[in-house]
This record gives sequence, C-alpha cells and structure tokens, in this order.
Amino acid sequence: MALQQYSLMAVTLIAITVSCTSRVQSIGVNWGTTASHPLPPSKVVELLKLNKITKVKLFDSNPQVLEALSGSDIDVTVGIPNSMLRSLNSSVKAAESWVHDNLTRYLSGRTRIEYVAVGDDPFLQTYGSQFYPFVVGAAISIEAALIRAKLQKKVKIVIPCSFDAFQSESNLPSTGHFRPDINKTMIAVLNFLTKTDSPFFVTISPFLSHYQNKNISLDFALFKESAHPHKDTHNKSYKNSFDLSYDTLITALTVAGFPEVKIVISQIGWPTDGAPNATVANAEIFTKGLFNHIHSQKGTPLRPRVMPLEFYIYTLVDEDQRNTSMGNFERHWGLFTFDGQAKYEVEFFRGVKGLVNAQSVDYLAPRWCVVNNNLDMMNASVRATEACMNADCTALSPGSSCFNLSWPGNVSYAFNSYYQEHDQRAESCDFGGLGMITTVDPSVGDCRFNVELKASLSVMFHGFNFWHYLISLVLTILMLL
Ligand SMILES: *[C@@H]1O[C@H](CO)[C@@H](O)[C@H](O)[C@H]1NC(C)=O
Ligand SMILES: *[C@@H]1O[C@H](CO)[C@@H](O)[C@H](O)[C@H]1NC(C)=O
Ligand SMILES: *[C@@H]1O[C@H](CO)[C@@H](O)[C@H](O)[C@H]1NC(C)=O
Ligand SMILES: *[C@@H]1O[C@H](CO)[C@@H](O)[C@H](O)[C@H]1NC(C)=O
Ligand SMILES: *[C@@H]1O[C@H](CO)[C@@H](O)[C@H](O)[C@H]1NC(C)=O
Ligand SMILES: *[C@@H]1O[C@H](CO)[C@@H](O)[C@H](O)[C@H]1NC(C)=O
Ligand SMILES: *[C@@H]1O[C@H](CO)[C@@H](O)[C@H](O)[C@H]1NC(C)=O
Ligand SMILES: *[C@@H]1O[C@H](CO)[C@@H](O)[C@H](O)[C@H]1NC(C)=O
Ligand SMILES: *[C@@H]1O[C@H](CO)[C@@H](O)[C@H](O)[C@H]1NC(C)=O
Ligand SMILES: *[C@@H]1O[C@H](CO)[C@@H](O)[C@H](O)[C@H]1NC(C)=O
Repeated sequence: MALQQYSLMAVTLIAITVSCTSRVQSIGVNWGTTASHPLPPSKVVELLKLNKITKVKLFDSNPQVLEALSGSDIDVTVGIPNSMLRSLNSSVKAAESWVHDNLTRYLSGRTRIEYVAVGDDPFLQTYGSQFYPFVVGAAISIEAALIRAKLQKKVKIVIPCSFDAFQSESNLPSTGHFRPDINKTMIAVLNFLTKTDSPFFVTISPFLSHYQNKNISLDFALFKESAHPHKDTHNKSYKNSFDLSYDTLITALTVAGFPEVKIVISQIGWPTDGAPNATVANAEIFTKGLFNHIHSQKGTPLRPRVMPLEFYIYTLVDEDQRNTSMGNFERHWGLFTFDGQAKYEVEFFRGVKGLVNAQSVDYLAPRWCVVNNNLDMMNASVRATEACMNADCTALSPGSSCFNLSWPGNVSYAFNSYYQEHDQRAESCDFGGLGMITTVDPSVGDCRFNVELKASLSVMFHGFNFWHYLISLVLTILMLL
C-alpha cells in the first residue's frame, strides 16, 4: 500500500516536472475572426489543442468563441474594442455590465480568462489621439467592476501597446523613448499596471520595422546570422531587429521610470502575402529564428538571460476582412491559411515536430467564378475593380502571390473572390454577363483561387442570442423526455 502511494507520488512528481518544463516559455497565439467565412470556433479550439497551444489572445469577447474555449485548459485574453473605451471611461456602470456580460458568465463556466485587454492597440499612430483620453479611465472602471465582482485576483487588466509607441534616434536602443505625443499617457498606463501588478503588453514587429525603415535590412529582421549588426554605444552590438526593438523599449521604460515592469510580447509575426517581402519562405525563416531565440533563453544585450514573460504569435489564421489601411499584408499574418492549413513547418515547442492542420474542414462546392473572355471584354476591368471593393484582392497587389497574373487572369481572380465571399450564389457570378462558373481550378503556381468555407451558423449572429439558446435548450429537453 505504502509502496503504491510512493510510486503514485513519484509519477505525479514526474508529471508535474514534465508539464512545468514544457511550459517554461509560454507561446500563445492571437485569434481574430475578421473573416467573411471564419472557421467554426469549435474547429479552431480543436486546432489549438492539436498543436498543444495553451494560450490565446482574442480581440473581443465573441460569445461563441468563449463558449468553445470552455473546459479547454487554454488561458484566454479577451479584448475590449477601442470603440467601447469612451463609454467605459465615464461610467463604472458600463464597466460593470461589460464584466457581467463578458466575463462573469464564462468564468462561472469553465473558460479560463487570464487577462482583459483594454483597447486594441489604442495608441497606434494611424488612429491619431482619438483614444488617448479614455484608455486609462476605461481600465480604472474595469478594475472597479472586477473588484465589485470579486474577480480582481483571477483576471488581470492589460493595455496593449503598438509597435510604434516607442522609438529611437538612428536605431540606437540607448536613445529609446516613448513617442512624445503619448509620453504622458504612457506614464499613466505604467502607473496603472504597476499598481495592479499587471504585465506590459506590447507588439514588436520586425516586419513593419523593415517595411517602414530602410535601415532595417531584411536579413536583420529575419534573425539571419549573415545580417550586418547595428552598433550601439557601450560596445553593445545588435544582431537582429527583435533585440534592437526590445532594448529600445527597455530604455523607454527605464527613462519613464518603470524599468521593472514585466513584459509580454502580445503580437509578433510575419505576413505571407500582400507586400514584396511578405512571403511564406520569409515567414518560415522569421518564425524559426524567433522560436530559436526564445528557446535559447539568451535574452538581449540590455537584458541578458532574461526573456519576456510570454509571446503571442500574430496571428493564428488569415482573415480576409481585416482593415488594410496599414497595407495589404494585414490579411495574411496567419500561421495557418483561412481554412486552418499550416503555411510552413515550424517547431512550436521544443520537441513537438511541425504543425497539425485543422481536420475535416467543410468547404463550399469545388466551383469558381472566372471571366468569360469569349465576350466583349470592354467593361471587364471596371467590373473587376467593383468586385474588389466588396472582396479580397490583396493578393493582386505588387509583389503579392497573384500579381503576375496578366489581364484578364486578374479579372477572374477578382470575380472569384467576390463569388466565394458571397457564398457562391449564382447571381454573384454575373458581372454584367461576363462571369462564368467553372469546376476547373484556375489556380496557377503560388496564386491560389480559394474555395470558401461553409458559413458556420454559430458565428453568423454576433452576440449571444438568448431566445435561440432557450429554444435549443427546450428542444434538447423535449428530445430527452
Ligand atoms: C474620463 O473619466 C474620468 C473619470 O473617471 C473623467 O474625469 C474624465 O473627464 C473622463 N474623460 C473624458 C475625456 O471624458
Ligand atoms: C460585451 O462585449 C461586446 C464586445 O466585445 C460588446 O458588444 C457588448 O456590448 C459587451 N456587453 C456589455 C454589457 O457591455
Ligand atoms: C538610417 O541610417 C542613417 C545612417 O546611419 C541615419 O543617419 C538615419 O537617421 C537612419 N534612418 C532612420 C529612419 O533610422
Ligand atoms: C517623457 O516623460 C519623462 C518623465 O516625465 C521625461 O523624463 C521625458 O523627458 C519625457 N520624454 C519626452 C520625449 O517627452
Ligand atoms: C525586400 O527585401 C530585399 C532584400 O533585402 C530588399 O532589397 C527590398 O528593398 C525589400 N523590398 C521592400 C519593398 O521592402
Ligand atoms: C569596447 O571594447 C573594447 C575592446 O573590446 C574595449 O577596449 C573598450 O574599453 C570598450 N569600451 C566600452 C565603452 O566599454
Ligand atoms: C480602416 O482604418 C482606417 C484608419 O484607422 C479608418 O479610417 C477606416 O475607417 C477603417 N476602415 C474600415 C472599413 O473600418
Ligand atoms: C459597358 O458599360 C457601359 C456603361 O454601363 C454600357 O453602356 C455598355 O453597354 C457596356 N459595354 C459592354 C460591351 O458591355
Ligand atoms: C513575377 O514575375 C517576375 C518576373 O518574371 C519574377 O521575378 C517574380 O518572382 C514573380 N513573382 C511571383 C510572386 O511569382
Ligand atoms: C489587371 O491587370 C491589368 C493590366 O496589367 C491592370 O491594368 C488592372 O488594373 C489589373 N486589375 C486588377 C483588378 O488588378
């Protein structure tokens, strides 16, 4: 008996040790649903489990997504959209109903909500100053609501900070500082985080650094050994863009008076289409370089052997309706394609080989819409441009996967994208008589003409539908009787 107990204890201890070592550096993913035909949430949760991903960051608090995560053993960050910050700033009541509707319900179920992210990169330079006055106030309101709901120990509040919130002179990390227009707000943010013992969520984007700054070479952004290092003062030498940005942030935090705050890299990734160096090959090199860097535990010149608390890959799957104001690459950040297929092989965790694809995905019929070039094509280009206003033509932009399609191939691409996004309805392949449905896949080379997913009913109605829930509950009970 005693022996059995000991061996049970030993097994338990081993199990605990194994599970601790495999979780040394937490790597999670950002999961967004800004897609015309998103994968059903249950399918995405299955995908996360197949790939042993235990942390996920959301951009909102979609009820179907939170239900699907219930009982999954996955730690969740829910997001509060920027559009809600103003109302939350001025009202604890609004915060209380947000917490009630969007947290309490799921926490009393089995969804593990770890963080609430107040705002979605509210300090992004392209947004201007519209959200500054409300961010910290909204966080304070949510905090008050959490305390009232006795959830303040369970759930931490964070404020995601964009890659452009901090900067330096001539790429020297030792000159790092917050952007002058948000300097005051950042100090309020950091005071709040320190008071509540919450980590600093921040995006680091070697892709955007390279895209926007000619001095950051592609090799430097991709962690290549051959990259020309950047020298800083005090003999500090930077071998990659991640370290350079990270230490710029460390200096900015130190100058602002918060050198101790814990850091979480809340978004980091490389897109695979929509810009010249946004390719699958580069994304693979970047992600492998990043994971090697994380696993090496080397740290950065200013923080040797210290790594951020957690990393969240940006993003899990491609989303064909993301805002493209930053660039056409915005719809192509996924580690997986829109239908949950891995774009490349990468060892997510040490010893876990490759990525596993989503299983049994439901597609629409294998049908495409193309231009019938036996007809008078005079208006074809105009029709294509119109189609692109309501479809995803980002792969046609310069340097992208379908840029080399010559006319009228690119017209077909536009027609098909529109047709798929409109559920392959016959009337959405009309285009003044120029459209033609085919069962022959028009894809060429890397240019893929997609067949969309079957629309999942569960994500069609945004927001929790009480009556729908009640009716299905009643039906279930009737069936059981
Ligand atoms: C934000 O809320 C605070 C009180 O919580 C209030 O003093 C301030 O005026 C509000 N800001 C704006 C811009 O409404
Ligand atoms: C819950 O969050 C969603 C957005 O994520 C929002 O639309 C809804 O209004 C929230 N509920 C309340 C009561 O604020
Ligand atoms: C690029 O490097 C040059 C030379 O070192 C420097 O003068 C310039 O300020 C840098 N540009 C940017 C945007 O960092
Ligand atoms: C930002 O604020 C800190 C602390 O108040 C100050 O030391 C620093 O000079 C400010 N930086 C800028 C760029 O305004
Ligand atoms: C892409 O990377 C190559 C190789 O470093 C570079 O020469 C080129 O300028 C980059 N293109 C863009 C648009 O950034
Ligand atoms: C930089 O390194 C050189 C040689 O390794 C050394 O002689 C010098 O003192 C160092 N300078 C500083 C500022 O650390
Ligand atoms: C996209 O973002 C820009 C800049 O942030 C904004 O002005 C525009 O309204 C957004 N477009 C859509 C469709 O939301
Ligand atoms: C092209 O569009 C114009 C304006 O809608 C229309 O009048 C014309 O008949 C069209 N031409 C062809 C060949 O379809
Ligand atoms: C497009 O064509 C050019 C010239 O033929 C070639 O260099 C480039 O690699 C092609 N791009 C793609 C994405 O296939
Ligand atoms: C298709 O290609 C032609 C010629 O290269 C170009 O003028 C047209 O704008 C392209 N159309 C689209 C929708 O990309």
